[in-house]
Amino acid sequence: MTRDDVLNALWQRADEYVSGEELARSLSLSRTAVWKAIGQLREEGYAVESQPRLGYRLLSGSDVLSAEGVRRHLRHRELRLQVYKTISSTNTVLKSLAAEGAESGLVLLSEEQTAGRGRMGRSFYSPPASGLYLSLLLRPAMQASDATRLTACAAVAVCETIEALSGRPAQIKWVNDVFMDGRKVCGILTEASIDCETGTLHYVIIGIGVNTRAPAGDFPEELRNIAGSAFGTADLPELRCRLAAGILDRLTDYAADPTAPAIFAEYKKRSLVLGRDINILAPGREPVPAAAVDLAEDFALLARLPDGSMRRLSSGEVSVKL
Ligand code: BTN
Repeated sequence: MTRDDVLNALWQRADEYVSGEELARSLSLSRTAVWKAIGQLREEGYAVESQPRLGYRLLSGSDVLSAEGVRRHLRHRELRLQVYKTISSTNTVLKSLAAEGAESGLVLLSEEQTAGRGRMGRSFYSPPASGLYLSLLLRPAMQASDATRLTACAAVAVCETIEALSGRPAQIKWVNDVFMDGRKVCGILTEASIDCETGTLHYVIIGIGVNTRAPAGDFPEELRNIAGSAFGTADLPELRCRLAAGILDRLTDYAADPTAPAIFAEYKKRSLVLGRDINILAPGREPVPAAAVDLAEDFALLARLPDGSMRRLSSGEVSVKL
């Protein structure tokens, strides 16, 4: 495809001018075809500058999410990427594709979601330009009860990638929210289809939403005291593409062996709740105060209630005073 060829050629010489004539010659295209492709890339949001006599240059600061852009940084070449400007929800759409037989390793990524979903039936605020929303389809041979491990793998993959790109620490609020400086910067929603006879998974979808930048006009009122952005205004070229590739590479590595002790260790090291006073939350019930004492090897949270008894939480939600 002409547009892809022109984009690749510009990426290879990012921030340098390449003349239209050279592009046309090296790609065996007409000058008009190059010019049209540049127009299309600009419409998609790529910052392509042009100068008479010098030609075109693609600014590496462009934060457009594209399959080629992610692929340029991706080690796991077997993953198949479908990138959207906007989508209802990457999890919802991937679920229908999975039900139609899509293979393990399909990834949907979007710059915006119009009906992003969070845990406990909540919505997930997913504006364009300031977030990365992606879902990975896996068909692992594992018991459904072990699916929590994949969520933990995702949380570690997100933290490590954010830390590598930003140089700042990220923490995990059990079970799967990623926090930086006391604010939630990422949520993870894992959904699965289960074979009830065997208790194994037909498929699992791991959905990850990262607030990369502060949204235009700030977060909505109800999120303003909770949500934050992982990268603020830091100057990070190709941020969303690098972030997506880093998360997908790590998550694919970890999902291949989710019981690896190193994953547990990395998760526990980043726990925001261990050793803290928490409230155990359940819909329609009063919050139950407790102390978060330890994490079991299967990522269940071990909490001590005020009467001294212990409660083991395998899923659900807790709040922690930050
Ligand atoms: C939560 O914080 O409750 C979980 C949020 C999960 C959001 C991600 S964004 C990509 C994927 N698609 C969705 O609709 N939800 C997940």
